[in-house]
Amino acid sequence: MIPKETIDRITETARVEEVVGDYVSLKKRGTNLIGNCPFHNEKTPSFYVSPVKGIYKCFGCGKAGNSVNFLMEHDKLTYPDALRQLAKKYGIELNEEIASDKQIEEQNLRESLFLANSFAQKYYTNHLLETEHGKSIGYSYFVERGFSDEIIKKFQLGFSSDVWDGFAKDALKEGYNKEILIKAGLITEKDNRLFDRFRSRVLFPVHTLSGRVIAFSARTLSSDKTIAKYVNSPETEIYQKRNVLYGLYFAKKAIITNDNCFLVEGNTDVISMFQAGIENVVASSGTSLTSDQIRLIQRYTNNITILYDGDSAGIKASFRGIDLILEEGMNVRVVLFPDGDDPDSYARKNSASVIAEFIKNNAKDFITFKTNILKADAEGDPIKMSVLIKDIVATIALIPDAIIRNLYTQQCSQLLNISEQILHSEIGKIRTKKSKSGKDNQEEQHEVTSEEIDFVAETPKEKTNTTYYQEMDVIRIMLNHGQKILKLEILNENAEKTILEIPVAQAIVLDLCKGDYFSDPIFKQIFKEYFEGVQRDEILPDQVFIQHKEAEITKIAIDLIHSQYSLSPEWETEHNIQPTDESSTEMRLKSSVEEAVLKLKAKKIQELLNHELEELKKASNDEDALVIMNNYNNLQKQKIEIDKKFGRVIS
Ligand code: CTP
Ligand code: MN
Repeated sequence: MIPKETIDRITETARVEEVVGDYVSLKKRGTNLIGNCPFHNEKTPSFYVSPVKGIYKCFGCGKAGNSVNFLMEHDKLTYPDALRQLAKKYGIELNEEIASDKQIEEQNLRESLFLANSFAQKYYTNHLLETEHGKSIGYSYFVERGFSDEIIKKFQLGFSSDVWDGFAKDALKEGYNKEILIKAGLITEKDNRLFDRFRSRVLFPVHTLSGRVIAFSARTLSSDKTIAKYVNSPETEIYQKRNVLYGLYFAKKAIITNDNCFLVEGNTDVISMFQAGIENVVASSGTSLTSDQIRLIQRYTNNITILYDGDSAGIKASFRGIDLILEEGMNVRVVLFPDGDDPDSYARKNSASVIAEFIKNNAKDFITFKTNILKADAEGDPIKMSVLIKDIVATIALIPDAIIRNLYTQQCSQLLNISEQILHSEIGKIRTKKSKSGKDNQEEQHEVTSEEIDFVAETPKEKTNTTYYQEMDVIRIMLNHGQKILKLEILNENAEKTILEIPVAQAIVLDLCKGDYFSDPIFKQIFKEYFEGVQRDEILPDQVFIQHKEAEITKIAIDLIHSQYSLSPEWETEHNIQPTDESSTEMRLKSSVEEAVLKLKAKKIQELLNHELEELKKASNDEDALVIMNNYNNLQKQKIEIDKKFGRVIS
């Protein structure tokens, strides 16, 4: 268990814009930041981050929360794991109290795997740079390939000796657990003997988005074709191939600033490009690109440029990549390198500006690219031509955005000399078939209107009781204005009028604490916490609820604090005015408070009155009926009082 004080320190330190910014490319918009939502597929940003409030909110899919929630949602972490990750990021010591055995076990396993990989990285890097064997074989190989010392250190490259169990022995000696080393895929056990996975190879560590080593990709130095060129770490609890791109940790900043990501095939392509000064580059590492990997890139940019070698395997791989990228709603361009060059060899021969120029001049949109390649082969052969057209049409049909789809259809019609009409009808057929088979369930893109924003903010999950909206309004006022001071006119003990200055939250607590007005469990809990705060002489700030450990409370708090105006782009940037809301004057606020409280009371009493009437119908004897009638009359009197007060507030 993480102690409360530590949790507070973590939530105070972990700036939401930094935490979210590790995953989403954010741009400034007024006092907020805005970007593409990482939780749903979108092209127009509707994902807002408010540094002032410490929250994020997506007006497209409704996801909202604080920095801890973000990690929970995004990386599928538990609450304590998200806190641990933040603590790590910000160097906060955890002082964990005793956790459950299962928690310890799971956490320990992941952490142990990280530690084992980190040890292995240091071990192999040390072997590369500090041992005679490493220097004469591994290091000189890298030098021959043109890698600088700086780049070798940056990418934490390494070298493994040819001893069967050299690493295993040293790791065990250092106190690393055998089972963990096996689980991490660093060693294997056979017939009671231990073997290193990586032998006589140069090593490329694979990093997480935050730079921790989770796996290795190890290249042989031998030109013997019977030896596997690469040996890679197996999948583990911390390493899933489909969800990792080699180099992304180093490239993410440059991807954001260039608003483009270069996608190459090999580890060496990434490193050579990086060394040449082109830093927005990642590798799919030989395996076919997955949509998870594409979504990793999409956090930082909507543009991908595929850089593959011009051989037929490279071209084929690029076709698959194109389809997947288009399907994710991103823009894709393709560059093929000339005459047996790949990004690695080209980058070694040329400067950053020449490479950039080459890419710029040779990047083709996928339609031109695919058509040119296929056309050369099909020209003059009607059957081949029709196959080619079907192929390209199928690719265009993947694009989720209708406008972009149409632009490509036009272009395709010109390039291939076929009527647009026919293409449209073919594309239409494919898309209908697809949507019927339920494959294409992505939401259509749309701009968010202010009505929708209100809708998102104010639609309860399920309306559980008749006073739901009244309860919500009272809580909304407490969250938004709880600490503001109201001047209330009251009678003192000598029946003289005096002015009482009191915070909004306290006024509401005092007014409502005698009745059981809240039925919704979340609102009830929030009110209870305000109530307990007032008893301690404390008016809780909104951050208490925004940073609450109950995700439901956080969600409600954020929805209510940011209902109409504060995060909406229309109000901030276009109208450039502040809406005259209830907080504009003390008078307005005061009547809003009174109105909300009275409405809740009135509705509650109405509910009770209805209840008594129901009871009356069921009453089996006169005595019961009399008691009920009496209750009813008392409630009726209260209702009249409230209605009177209501009249005063309204006027
Ligand atoms: N790869 C692999 N297993 C193989 C071959 C390749 O995992 N047997 C992956 C590696 O991640 C490699 C990528 O596919 O980086 C691209 O392969 P290739 O171009 O053959 O390797 P490079 O890293 O570019 O090596 P080099 O430039 O030395 O040929
Ligand atoms: Mn290569």
